[in-house]
Amino acid sequence: MIMNPLRERDLGTPARKGEATVQLTIDGQPIAVAAGTSIVRAAALAGVEVPKLCATDSLEAFGSCRLCLVEIEGRGGTPASCTTPVAPGMVVRTQSDKLAAAPRGDGAVHLRPSA
Ligand code: FES
Repeated sequence: MIMNPLRERDLGTPARKGEATVQLTIDGQPIAVAAGTSIVRAAALAGVEVPKLCATDSLEAFGSCRLCLVEIEGRGGTPASCTTPVAPGMVVRTQSDKLAAAPRGDGAVHLRPSA
């Protein structure tokens, strides 16, 4: 599906369909989304913009640029929000001292040949 960039906002990863919903909190904003939705997409739906470069609605996320890092309460590290699906009760932060200090990609998108 080709989107019209003048009318549609890119939410970062393809939409998931299904009746099961997951409730989580992103930067204090509660949101319920379809199971399997990425954190970056859920954030956009909650009105929280996460910087992204390689993620788009038209492709499955492949986590190359590392610009979309987030913190998840109770989990270590700073996972890419485009490749991390939401989970029930998840508490996500998009801004913190840890994220500010986290190495972000070099702004390049590293493509891998398909198998
Ligand atoms: S937008 Fe998530 S790794 Fe590039």
